[in-house]
Formats: sequence, structure tokens, C-alpha cells
Amino acid sequence: MKLLVCGGAGFIGSNFVRQRVLEHGDAVTVLDKLTYAGREENLRDVADRDGYRFVRGGIEDAAAVADATEGANAVVNFAAETHVDRSISEPDAFIRTHAMGTFVLLEAARSRGIRYVQVSTDEVYGSIEDGSFTESSPLAPSSPYSATKAGADLLVGSYHHTYGLEALICRGSNNYGPYQYPEKLIPLMILNALHGDALPVYGDGMQVRNWIYVEDFARGIGHVLEHGVPGHAYNVGGPDEAANIEVVRRIVELTGASEGLIEYVTDRPGHDRRYSLGSEKSRALGWSPQVRFDDGLERTVAWYRDNHEWWEPIRSGDYRAYYERQYGRALGERLETLD
Ligand code: NAD
Ligand code: TYD
Repeated sequence: MKLLVCGGAGFIGSNFVRQRVLEHGDAVTVLDKLTYAGREENLRDVADRDGYRFVRGGIEDAAAVADATEGANAVVNFAAETHVDRSISEPDAFIRTHAMGTFVLLEAARSRGIRYVQVSTDEVYGSIEDGSFTESSPLAPSSPYSATKAGADLLVGSYHHTYGLEALICRGSNNYGPYQYPEKLIPLMILNALHGDALPVYGDGMQVRNWIYVEDFARGIGHVLEHGVPGHAYNVGGPDEAANIEVVRRIVELTGASEGLIEYVTDRPGHDRRYSLGSEKSRALGWSPQVRFDDGLERTVAWYRDNHEWWEPIRSGDYRAYYERQYGRALGERLETLD
């Protein structure tokens, strides 16, 4: 296939591009704005492959999108602002990218008559106490992140319904694995644990997430792209659920850090209690997750331990400033007070 992958320099997008180029031989153009979360070095191992092209630009920029779409026979859109905490403190970019950006991409796909896959999230369904969401569950998002993602999903659906665009939606549960920006729970806790920094657990730590290893999600998106029915949404959920505090304790064990680093902090406003996805529809397409959480977490800890050069520039840059704004103290402070 000849793919335009938007947001391909981020965490999941780069894992997806690697699979498509190395395992499927696809020609891929990546369009990415390179926000704080996007890095061209995430794609270093495919950059010299035939058919690979990188375009720096926003999905809301029609000229950049027109250039990047040249020659593509499908668009897969990962481009997004993805951190719920940032969406609470600074929602503007979420609205611009998810609403305007998705619109510009849909128009480009429509004018060229090509297939379009929107990468979305379980968070559009909101929180669920028992059981799991299916694709026909109502959308009930609760944060500016999930609300703008849900808005984008509705717009995608309307382009299929109104214009007959071959549009599909793929909704994933919480991803973890290599190349995830360390503002998210798992990489944040791994890097803090490796450095002897505090491990900030929001509220009582009993919020539950449905974890999926990133390569499993990327493969699920590929399945939806190749075999999904236009106009349909597909849930792609992980095989295991875990409460945040269990995840943090497991990371403490795997890194050999001290349990004393765990610190309960003020809860996130409007914090969703539990996410859970039923994925029968994507399983019926022939997809199933391969990596159980225990195994994937061990691999992920090993990856961060072995890839200092990947995270060192991030930990000393924007992410550190964000952490300080969020928690009102520097990353190393806890360590100093313990000494
Ligand atoms: P990420 O934050 O790691 O990467 C996002 C990428 O999009 C970055 O490369 C960034 O530079 C790029 N980007 C942001 N705004 C852009 C714009 N306006 N134009 C072009 N590029 C832009 O995110 P991720 O975790 O890889 O998530 C990718 C997608 O998967 C998102 O749509 C997200 O909603 C969805 N998703 C994520 C998870 C998860 O647990 N991380 C779970 C389910 C679904
Ligand atoms: P996160 O990785 O931000 O993903 P999402 O909010 O999209 O599910 O957070 C996962 C869970 O971990 C969520 O319940 C919030 C919680 N959390 C903490 O307890 N401490 C932290 O420092 C972070 C970043 C998240």
C-alpha cells in the first residue's frame, strides 16, 4: 500500500510505520508537526527505506496535507494531542488539531477518493464501572481530550454517511511500550523509579486501565485498514486490566526501586475510574492481542533501561518544565529530601 501516516513520529504512529514498512513493504509518507511529543528519531530505522518520505507540517494546514497526500491510496491519522492532564490545563491545541485537523484530512481524502482510518480511543465512551464497552455504546467523553477525540469520530462518521468516504475508526485502549513520551503513567513511573524520583499516584490509585502493548494496537490498526468495513468503528482493546497502583508496584519491583518513592498526590479533576473495551468485532477480522501485560511491562522496562539516549534529551527538556508546573517542584527534589 501507499500510505499517508499523520502523526507518525509519535509513540503509536512510529511503531505502526515500522511495522508497515518492515513487515508489509508499504511505501509510507509521514506527515507530522513535530510537537513536543513527535520526534523524527523515532523513525530512524525506516528513514532510508525506499518509498519513505517525511513531511513536517500540521494536519490543519491544507497545503502541507495536499503535498503529503500526493500518491497515497490511504490515510491513517494518529496526529493528536494525547495527554489528558495537558488537555485540562491547556485545551486549545486539542480543539485545533482534533476538530480542524481532522476536517482538513477528511477533505483531502474525499477529494482523492481514498480510504481513511481515524485512530481513536476508548476514552470517547467515558468511564464504565462493570463490563466492557462495545462499538454501539454511546459516546460519553469526560475530558477535553476525549471530548475532542469523540467530536473527530463523529465528523469521520459523517463523511462516510454524507459523502460515501471509505472512512473507518479504530479505538484503542491504553497503550504502553517503547517510544512512549514519559508524561504518561508507565514511562513516567519507569524513568522516575530508575532515577529514585517520587512516583506520583493520583487519588487512591484504584483507577483501572485496559492495557495494550503498542505493537498489538499497531497490528490491530493494520487489520482495520486492510479488512474493516467502511463506516464502521472497531474496538482494539488489550488482554488485561490493572489498577494504577498495581502497575506502579510492579514497576517498582522490575526496576528494583524502593516502595517508599510512591506518593499519593491530588487526584486529576474529573478522573475517569475505569476503561474497558470489548474487541469481538476486530477479533472477527482476524486480529487478537499477543502480549500479556506482565510480559509487555517487563519488555518495556528493559527498553527504557537500555535506551538512555532516547529519553535523556526529553527528561532535560519540555517534559521537565511540564512536570514542575504540574507538581510544583523539580523532578529530583524528592530524592534530595530523602537523602
Ligand atoms: P503521541 O502524543 O505520542 O504522538 C502524537 C503525534 O502527533 C506526535 O508525533 C505529534 O508531533 C503529532 N501531532 C500532534 N499534533 C499534530 C498536528 N496538528 N499535525 C500533525 N501532527 C501532529 O500520541 P500517541 O500516544 O502515539 O497517540 C496516537 C493516536 O492514538 C492519538 O490519536 C491518540 O488519541 C490515539 N490513542 C492513544 C492511546 C494511548 O494510550 N497513547 C490509546 C488509544 C488511542
Ligand atoms: P495516562 O497515562 O495519562 O493515560 P489516561 O489518562 O489517558 O488513561 O494515565 C493513566 C492512569 O494513570 C490514569 O488513571 C491517571 C494515572 N496517573 C497517575 O496516577 N499518575 C501520573 O503521574 C500519571 C501521568 C497518570
